[in-house]
Amino acid sequence: MCGIFAYAGTENAVPLLIEGLRSVEYRGYDSAGISVIDSSGEIQTVKRGDHKASLENLAVAAGESQLSGVVGIGHTRWATHGEVNQQNSHPHASSDGSVSIAHNGIIENFIELKDQLVDSGFEFKSETDSEVLAHLVGNRVAAGSSLREAVIGAAGQIKGNTAIVAVSKAEPDVVVGLRVGNAGGIVVGKSDHAAVMASDTIALLPYTSEVIYLEPGEVVEIEHGDVRLFDLQGSTITREPVVTAQNFEAAQKGNHPHFMSKEIAEEPDAVQGAMRGRADFSAGTLSLPEISLTSEKLKSIDRVVLTGMGTSLHAAMFGASVIESLARIPATAENSSELRYRNPVLGPNTLIVAVTQSGETADTLAAMEHARNAGSPQGVVLELEGSQATRIADFTLPVRAGQEIGVASTKTLIGSMTTLLELAVVLAETRGVIDAVQVKTIVESMAELPSLIAKTLELNGQVSELADRLSKFEDLLYLGRGAQLPIALEGALKMKELAYIHAEGYAAGEMKHGVNALLGDDMATVVAAPQNDLYEKMLSNISEVKARGGEVAAIATEGDEMIGRVADHVIYVPKCPELLQPFVTLVPMQILAYRTALALGRDPDKPRNLAKTVTVE
Ligand code: AGP
Repeated sequence: MCGIFAYAGTENAVPLLIEGLRSVEYRGYDSAGISVIDSSGEIQTVKRGDHKASLENLAVAAGESQLSGVVGIGHTRWATHGEVNQQNSHPHASSDGSVSIAHNGIIENFIELKDQLVDSGFEFKSETDSEVLAHLVGNRVAAGSSLREAVIGAAGQIKGNTAIVAVSKAEPDVVVGLRVGNAGGIVVGKSDHAAVMASDTIALLPYTSEVIYLEPGEVVEIEHGDVRLFDLQGSTITREPVVTAQNFEAAQKGNHPHFMSKEIAEEPDAVQGAMRGRADFSAGTLSLPEISLTSEKLKSIDRVVLTGMGTSLHAAMFGASVIESLARIPATAENSSELRYRNPVLGPNTLIVAVTQSGETADTLAAMEHARNAGSPQGVVLELEGSQATRIADFTLPVRAGQEIGVASTKTLIGSMTTLLELAVVLAETRGVIDAVQVKTIVESMAELPSLIAKTLELNGQVSELADRLSKFEDLLYLGRGAQLPIALEGALKMKELAYIHAEGYAAGEMKHGVNALLGDDMATVVAAPQNDLYEKMLSNISEVKARGGEVAAIATEGDEMIGRVADHVIYVPKCPELLQPFVTLVPMQILAYRTALALGRDPDKPRNLAKTVTVE
């Protein structure tokens, strides 16, 4: 999603703005730009709309133009309204050039506002909705408002979630930031000589680890080393900064070629992190101290609805499977963009569990707000603490996988799955469905998880060969049953988002209901077929595919002597209790997509058209 960075200090803001944008470029972008107020008090703007090369080209262009100034704003854009080009890049200026703004979010009533402005004689230079804001703010400043008043007033005229940063010639030392709804966060901090604000905490870490998160409906002014917070009525807000645990160095690649390979390699630690302070391996007990609901309340729950988008939806599906299996309570997983609009029947006895590593996914936040309004108790499983989702849910279950920079979610998924398994055990034990002995057995098996996952990481070589083979296909089918279905869906999603190969994830039982028509030598099939109660069924599905000329790659349990006689390729994963099998079949699926992407010359860290955080619906 779009990235924002702003600086007000004593140094030349230009290189600092570029550097700040570099630290948020992982969010995905296709154009970038900066505005600074130069020594003569004029606003100078440089923009580049060259897709992924924009930041590099922007730095060159800024250098060539000798741009300089101690106050400025920067933006990396992920196009929603208007194609990817220079004039659509942010920042956008008011018609008289006295104001420049950068914006995250979608202005839902921008056509109406643009028509009004055009009818009043304003000329637009871009196709974007954001340019409307530049004119609305510029108009107000020209009429005598302060920049803060003008930004607040303009924000009141637009519909939709928004995050804005703005500068004005009339106040050359000030940057104003505003947040309404959930269009990505604004976080602010200061050092001895400067104040900075950004859409991501990571951009502030070179300046400070003490940060303030803007809540929706709040405004911030930064000026030199000063930070001033207000509500939309202009009243001052006093808020102590929080110390962020994010570590800038950890966000580097280390000795890995890509963030994605580093983050897959960190999966044993991610699982460990999700068990820390919760599983007591010596006592054989498990607790989730973060759950704020009483045991009585947990016992009154008669349904669990999990929700998320993309990979987090697949985590939610895994969560529903283990919760229903262990706690014997109806549990379903729903796509947040569907849940938020279908007027679901929710109530005080429905536990909502949202899954969102960023905590800023617009559809998931909206589903969470809908559930809160319905009076349902809810928790959120997430990585980025301090994000908006933590302020909507009744309790947060941090995944603690560590910063995930790669756009494709890997370690945060396995951390979320671990956390959801823990939730299932706690629910089951609280409701008396399983006893301490059964908990001890599960905890003992979970103690093996980090080493089980470490073993699957050693499959790189086998998976690379299979990746070379699969990279030749334009269509792939992924099959799974039961708790392996979300793994099959995730394997297909990873192949789509990283290798750009059409890959469909399917419940294996669906084969005869239409999918068989697709089978043939031009589509390979990947099956998740560990040895469990559904193994025989999966063998039949493999035979069905083979009988119709399809090539099959199976993810199977080591020691399985049957599978190799029916499948063309087999990746063997360690034997483990059925409850943990999704963890070990997931990892080769992730590596397979990563390796296939490399075989096809794709950038696995910045897949085309995708963003790390989708703050628009
Ligand atoms: C998965 O690799 C993608 N990055 C995407 O599907 C992602 O899972 C989805 O956008 C949800 O993001 P969230 O977990 O931050 O809510």
